[in-house]
Amino acid sequence: MTAPQFIQLEQHNSAAVVQELLQGLSASQAFTSPKYLYDALGSRLFEAITELPEYDLTRTEAQLMQLHSADMAQHLPHGACWIDLGAGNCEKAGRLLGPLSAGRYVAVDISVDFLRHALDGLQRLHPGLPMAGVGTDFSGGLQLPDELGLDPTQPRVLFYPGSSIGNFTPTQAVDFLRSLHLVCGTAAHSGLLIGVDLLKDAAELEAAYDDALGVTAAFDLNLLLHINRLVGSNFGVRDWRHVSRFNANQSRVEMHLQARHAVHVQWPGGERLFAADETIHTENACKWTVSGFDALLRDAGFSASRVWTDPAARFAVFWAQA
Ligand code: AVI
Repeated sequence: MTAPQFIQLEQHNSAAVVQELLQGLSASQAFTSPKYLYDALGSRLFEAITELPEYDLTRTEAQLMQLHSADMAQHLPHGACWIDLGAGNCEKAGRLLGPLSAGRYVAVDISVDFLRHALDGLQRLHPGLPMAGVGTDFSGGLQLPDELGLDPTQPRVLFYPGSSIGNFTPTQAVDFLRSLHLVCGTAAHSGLLIGVDLLKDAAELEAAYDDALGVTAAFDLNLLLHINRLVGSNFGVRDWRHVSRFNANQSRVEMHLQARHAVHVQWPGGERLFAADETIHTENACKWTVSGFDALLRDAGFSASRVWTDPAARFAVFWAQA
């Protein structure tokens, strides 16, 4: 049995993290990058969100992948190097590697430590398949290390499920997709397999991001504890409430943390007074139409996309050739 290769790229520079967070917290509309929602507890709360009745995105995508895997096998290259972005527990790609005859598997996530256990398990299921885990923050654009020794003649399948692309604004999304297009390389038949949540009824969307059990609220509020650890601030969770709003003009659900009353927050070297009801904008979840996302893919340099949707057109999986 071959053993997975593990590579950790730049560890996040804490001075840059503090600077980024404080800049956002000091802006007139305070904001933070959604990547800070995912500390250890945030990642577990997100897993719980995927099981909520209101949040059917993950289940609908899994059903689509399962139902259409034979058709996908007709369109996607065989023997390809699969590059799984935000791989986490590697479960989603793990289900496709066999049916779609992958030739290599590269799991990418913010920390290689998130990948070790899952990749070791997956390697036991596919003993002959070369595997690697790469730890890198790819939210600003994907770049893979030379040490991976990617074969330029082997087709590549970039796999980006879960509608994580929705957490970018359209302008950020096109830049990000361009970086993926570059990583597709020059081998024929390479491309991007990507899951995208589609635009639907506003009340349903707001409920998906503000569930009855309060799991999404806990996920959002936990950000304050993470920020306290990162910047040394004194946010109190009980001073804030979670709000989910559908912004029809921008076709996105916005998550905000709203001050329950006037709140004075301090951190080493700074402070801010939040008025009652003032918010920190913590996440965008953009919702696309099939034609809108197809146009975005083309803008980013991809062509000839194939799309699979469920009968109620709630979610779409695109195969976009590089
Ligand atoms: C990871 N991402 C695609 C999720 C989403 O639906 O935007 C994150 C999430 N935020 C609240 N609920 C789920």
